[in-house]
Amino acid sequence: MRGISFWFFGLAVLCALIGMGWGIQMSATHNHDLSPAHAHLNLIGWVGFAIAGFYYHLVPAAADHWLARVHFGVAVLGLVLIVPGIVQALQQTGETLAKAGSVLTLVSMVIFAVTVVKTRAS
Ligand code: HEM
Ligand code: HEM
Repeated sequence: MRGISFWFFGLAVLCALIGMGWGIQMSATHNHDLSPAHAHLNLIGWVGFAIAGFYYHLVPAAADHWLARVHFGVAVLGLVLIVPGIVQALQQTGETLAKAGSVLTLVSMVIFAVTVVKTRAS
């Protein structure tokens, strides 16, 4: 695995490490207040990025296209905004980051959808 597949998969593993550490910290402190933020770091970061990494590994034509790099950039930006954004929303200190991160995460999936359709015959 190399190139964009490696970057997606490597970041997915990093998200899992941080997300699981966060889960253990929540369990140990008996404070589950931020569990939706932990959940989405794992679900979008670990699960979503790992699936993208596998797809780009299996479909090299998709990985070689410039759209894959745009997908990666938008997806990473979405994740780094949505996770602290959920924390802020839960703590009722603002919703701007959560909104921006949500829209970027959706846009990244639209870009991926275009790639999947474009490379369907690969
Ligand atoms: C070492 C690994 C993990 C630990 C110790 C852990 C721990 C926790 C804890 C303590 C909660 C709060 C439960 C509650 O309040 O009812 C939670 C919620 C959750 N976790 Fe994890 N977790 C881990 C890994 C994962 C992974 C890998 C995923 C997803 C792929 C995940 C997804 C979720 C979801 C969806 C919730 C529910 C969130 C919510 O209720 O708002 N967790 N986890
Ligand atoms: C733009 C991306 C996303 C947004 C804006 C979003 C938003 C939300 C919101 C607002 C909730 C309710 C939280 C609560 O009641 O505390 C939720 C719950 C949940 N989401 Fe997402 N979500 C996104 C992506 C995903 C993805 C990709 C997955 C799975 C792969 C996922 C799995 C879940 C699950 C399992 C729950 C329920 C957790 C629980 O039991 O509290 N979400 N999401």
